[in-house]
Amino acid sequence: MKEPDDKLGEEVASDGTLGDVPTEEFRAALHRAADWVADYRERIEGLPVSPSTAPGDVAALLPASMPESPSPLSELFDELDRVILPHVVNWGHPSFLGYFGSTTTAPGVLGEIFAAALNVSAMTWRTSPAATELEGVVLEWMRRALGLPEAFTGVVYDTASVALLHALAAAREGLGLEVRRRGLAGRAELPVLRVYASEQAHSSVEKAAVTLGLGEENVRRVATDERFSMDVDALRAALDEDLRAGALPLAVVATAGTTSTAASDPVEEIGDLCRARGVWLHVDAAYGGALALLAEHAQVARALGAADSLVVNPHKWLFVPLDFSALYTRRPELLRQTFSLVPEYLRGDAERGEVNYMDYGVQLGRRFRALKAWAVFKTFGRAGLESRIREHLRLARHFARGVAGLEGFELAAPPEMAVVCFRALPRPGSDAAETDARSDELNRALVEAVNDTGRAYLTHTTLRGRVAARVAVGNVLTEGRHIDGLLALLREQAARLRRS
Ligand SMILES: Cc1ncc(COP(=O)(O)O)c(C=O)c1O
Repeated sequence: MKEPDDKLGEEVASDGTLGDVPTEEFRAALHRAADWVADYRERIEGLPVSPSTAPGDVAALLPASMPESPSPLSELFDELDRVILPHVVNWGHPSFLGYFGSTTTAPGVLGEIFAAALNVSAMTWRTSPAATELEGVVLEWMRRALGLPEAFTGVVYDTASVALLHALAAAREGLGLEVRRRGLAGRAELPVLRVYASEQAHSSVEKAAVTLGLGEENVRRVATDERFSMDVDALRAALDEDLRAGALPLAVVATAGTTSTAASDPVEEIGDLCRARGVWLHVDAAYGGALALLAEHAQVARALGAADSLVVNPHKWLFVPLDFSALYTRRPELLRQTFSLVPEYLRGDAERGEVNYMDYGVQLGRRFRALKAWAVFKTFGRAGLESRIREHLRLARHFARGVAGLEGFELAAPPEMAVVCFRALPRPGSDAAETDARSDELNRALVEAVNDTGRAYLTHTTLRGRVAARVAVGNVLTEGRHIDGLLALLREQAARLRRS
């Protein structure tokens, strides 16, 4: 039975605790949050880069069940300072040099704040024209700045892993096997589909193969040369062997800027081979794509131009906070063919030129990610992005020279882009080729020891089976003094470990 309207009104009005937090309390909290964020950014260098937290420490500080009764917004700040801040890795710290650096930037933070306030879903043009059109605009800004051919159309996803998944799904649809409609299971007539990537390529290739039902073992890892760059002869041999055996090569994933050493595959040559064999070429430029901004690295733009699809992550080296990953493809219609599935309630008017990004992927609801990219690109400008990247290259070269000159250290790979892999030798003056387990143990321990000091943060990798430490410069706050500080810290910690 329908409640009389006046009774409903009375019930809601009788208790002022429903609805959102009162405006004045929210405003006060926002002002406080502005100071919190600005102070955090200002004093970040004085904080340990990483905490000495044990598993379970953070959860133990919080109640097991959701708080039963409300609490004022001001209490959030108490818990933020007491429970959260002491237990985060401060990715924005200038001496955080792990993974692919950090892309915390002031305009990026502002973009995230605006996006949170608007909280729109960029699933269709109608659900937010500004979110959809800004996405198109920033993708076009990036396309031009990176020197990509006009034939490329972009879409934003959260991560490069998800972008690759979509690219491979589109490539598979392009084979005309009707996988969208009929699936893969129970179809004895289908050949095995294979994906090729270098042994240095990111593990997201296998994850995509798993998710798409291709099977992890149908990713063929191709050998690399002494620069960790894909051996094209080995790729050709693998493709031809599979073709002879009746398997169908689906795609080659070439990399511009590998995870471990930032090596690049010979993408143009691979592109020629792919065209000759009718195989889709995806270029993983999640990290290295940013380098295409620099005129002196025009070879990167040329390499990207050879792709059928490529991914660049502004959240790796273009100063846009996590997450923002741009996929560009020459075949956007294949993405639509694979993923467009429009329920009646979301039907728009394609005739009017409405772009609906939900048609280009698995996701329906989509964050307004373009806002933070716009904030960063507009604030820094193309020239500002370029000079910051150049500075990171300079700092990485400075580190590479410094570490190669330290007694008892060696470079573990040729420095590429802003990544340097190196090793401490078990004994200063020992044979640089020493491959004993002590070297691996020492370098693992060295990375841990450096990170445990809270003064810097590195990661490790394995190269040809041997452990190496790895530094990636990419943070806008990193300066020469941080790199010099790290060199001193490495010398000190390696000496201590050798003594023990
Ligand atoms: C070369 C490369 N490709 C892809 C990825 C995956 O990136 P994402 O975290 O955006 O999925 C990484 C991650 O570091 C990477 O280094």
